[in-house]
Amino acid sequence: MTDVILAKAKRKEELSLEEIATLLSITDPDELQALYDCAYFLKEQYVGKIAYFRGIIECSNLCMKDCYYCGIRKSNTNVERFLMNEDEIFKEAVWAFEAEYGSCVIQSGERQDEVYISMIERVVGRIKEATKGELGITLSLGEQTEETYARWKKAGASRYLLRIETTNPEIYARIHPADHSMEVRKECLAALRRTGYQVGTGVMMGLPGQTMEDLANDILFLKEIDIDMVGMGPYIPHGDTPMGQEIPAYTDEKKKEALQLGLKMIAVTRIVLRDINIAAATALQALEYTGREQGLLCGANVIMPNVTETDYRSKYQLYDNKPCTDENSSMCRGCLSGRIKGIGETVGFNERGDAPHFYKR
Ligand code: 5AD
Ligand code: FES
Repeated sequence: MTDVILAKAKRKEELSLEEIATLLSITDPDELQALYDCAYFLKEQYVGKIAYFRGIIECSNLCMKDCYYCGIRKSNTNVERFLMNEDEIFKEAVWAFEAEYGSCVIQSGERQDEVYISMIERVVGRIKEATKGELGITLSLGEQTEETYARWKKAGASRYLLRIETTNPEIYARIHPADHSMEVRKECLAALRRTGYQVGTGVMMGLPGQTMEDLANDILFLKEIDIDMVGMGPYIPHGDTPMGQEIPAYTDEKKKEALQLGLKMIAVTRIVLRDINIAAATALQALEYTGREQGLLCGANVIMPNVTETDYRSKYQLYDNKPCTDENSSMCRGCLSGRIKGIGETVGFNERGDAPHFYKR
């Protein structure tokens, strides 16, 4: 059954919701390998065996939102809050540029006040100027007004990441407080597209109550809104969150299962969306040390090495066991470069690595 679906995928035929859900339900080791091989075959054809590095700067854990799954939710009083100043953010972006990364990602908790908006606007402008526009600037700063998105775009940002988290309305409502709305999130994604960004979104997989059909719908949603980039990762409980307290910490068995689901989602997303950029989320590595390389071998082509100053890293724990919190930026560069070579791929140093899909639109 699954070999028929994979043969269709290789012929670049469209897959139905049921076929996508069938692929996501694979558990047999040989069938799993065939799924991953098919995704890798399509990855090679559409985007090549090159892993692009996006240096991620986690510039603040202050957040006005209270998502039930996230370690930096505003009600978590066990977090020491921090906000980098403009110079610190700038310095880390320049470090990424000098380390020959094609782009940087500025990420933080959500804030919608003018002080923060204008600080980001200024620092984006400074990075653009200092790197002569050669370093791609991606933002991952949550829901904002279209005007704010446009200001940051004008300052020099070219990509934006905003996960939809799940497209199942019941699960969405269960994992977020009432001030969240999926409609607002979708409207933000539409505003980002209108503003001219390369738009990235994604989901968490392995959420309580989530089925393979839900995840198949998520993939079809990514296709429907014609996304350029996908960042998605396994849900991992955080002990200081309401959801994390309801779920026992992952056993080794559960970690394996969560990793496998994460890899299957990457593979099937590559098969269905083909010429987009897909990140091997850092969360994969929280489940197994080689999780991110495995992500590349299943169809991902982007890795986001942390370029945040080590002192801040332990304060940006969205989930438990986040890797690389004791390491510094050069250690992650060396470590990841070696691991990528080890799987027979090259790193796209000094290349922006835009998704071919963006230019075909
Ligand atoms: N497990 C996995 N991913 C998480 N995120 C937040 N909390 C968790 C968690 N406990 C993800 C969300 C968010 C991104 C920045 O981090 O998907 O969009
Ligand atoms: Fe950070 Fe290996 S990637 S230490």
